[in-house]
Amino acid sequence: MKKRIALLPGDGIGKEVVDVTVEVLKTVAEHFHHQFQFDYGLIGGDAIDQKGNPLPEETIAICKQADAIILGAVGGPKWDQNPMELRPERGLLALRKELDLFANLRPITTFDSLLDSSPLKKEYVNGVDFVIVRELTGGLYFGKPSERITYEGQEAVVDTLLYKRSEIERIIESAFEIASKRRRKHITSVDKANVLESSRVWREVAEEVAKRYPEVTLEHMLVDNAAMQLIRSPKQFDVIVTENMFGDILSDEASMITGSLGMLASASLSSTGLHLYEPIHGSAPDIAGKNIANPVATILSAAMMLRQSFGLEEEAKAIEKAVDNVLNSGTRTADLAQGNKAASTKQMAEEIKNALADDHAILNIMEAYS
Ligand code: IPM
Ligand code: MG
Repeated sequence: MKKRIALLPGDGIGKEVVDVTVEVLKTVAEHFHHQFQFDYGLIGGDAIDQKGNPLPEETIAICKQADAIILGAVGGPKWDQNPMELRPERGLLALRKELDLFANLRPITTFDSLLDSSPLKKEYVNGVDFVIVRELTGGLYFGKPSERITYEGQEAVVDTLLYKRSEIERIIESAFEIASKRRRKHITSVDKANVLESSRVWREVAEEVAKRYPEVTLEHMLVDNAAMQLIRSPKQFDVIVTENMFGDILSDEASMITGSLGMLASASLSSTGLHLYEPIHGSAPDIAGKNIANPVATILSAAMMLRQSFGLEEEAKAIEKAVDNVLNSGTRTADLAQGNKAASTKQMAEEIKNALADDHAILNIMEAYS
């Protein structure tokens, strides 16, 4: 299979984790006889420095020519004082909007070998397996007005939580599709319907969509309760669907169930079929350039890409299995090493590549003799 992959490493550790993910993808290409072409684009702080724009036109063009996009991370203290439109995060938000990447899937699953790394007790964490479906192109992130104003004669500020009904419907529909076809057929729709009108409409729409999926159970949960339930009993969840801001907050919270933000992959799916894959962690400027970041989240995002965008199930599984094998062997990056000797970003990726190659060699031998 021939595919073009746009790479947007971005800032901080984004570059390091994308670099080694490319190496893993090259190993996959070699063993499974695919051709992946990689095209690099600038985004975030780097793009501001070089082009004066967090999302240059060239980057959008590179993405649009690609079959899928892998992004590292954006942001850093260097640009913290910049005006809003010249902040690195603007680049990512503009890209989500431009490519209509409205459905952000954030799977939360635990690795057996990492159960002790979670700050929660093992018995609460063991077997956790759910996905957060976060709306990504609406709500407070994009609503206008968003500005400083004068209100009742005083200095004031306004952000706007705006959703078209159709935007709510399509994200809830995506969640039902996932729950019904790929998971355990249970949806928790998270809102703040006791306070917000937008949440009341969200609930109405969820109930409407639910009628078309009689095999799926829908439950509603207020966001404050959901934040509590994620810690109290995370195993109750299968698919969580929620609006942009709630999803941002809950997904960072949920990540700690697994032990490290450095483990979690995500996919942002669009209406056009051109999807973006990225780790859910940020640019971690404090550890950037030190070759100590955990690359697993980005490597697993690449596995999601192979499965979701290219239909390469076997290849995706091979990466996931290689990651699992390496973790089982005890190798850990600093975020998970708990004071023990830690592997570098490159060593971790190298071991994953070797595990992939070993495993594949065994498969080939088995095939040859069967
Ligand atoms: C995320 C990040 C982004 C967001 C930032 C970098 C704009 O936190 O992908 O969760 O808030 O969506
Ligand atoms: Mg976030």
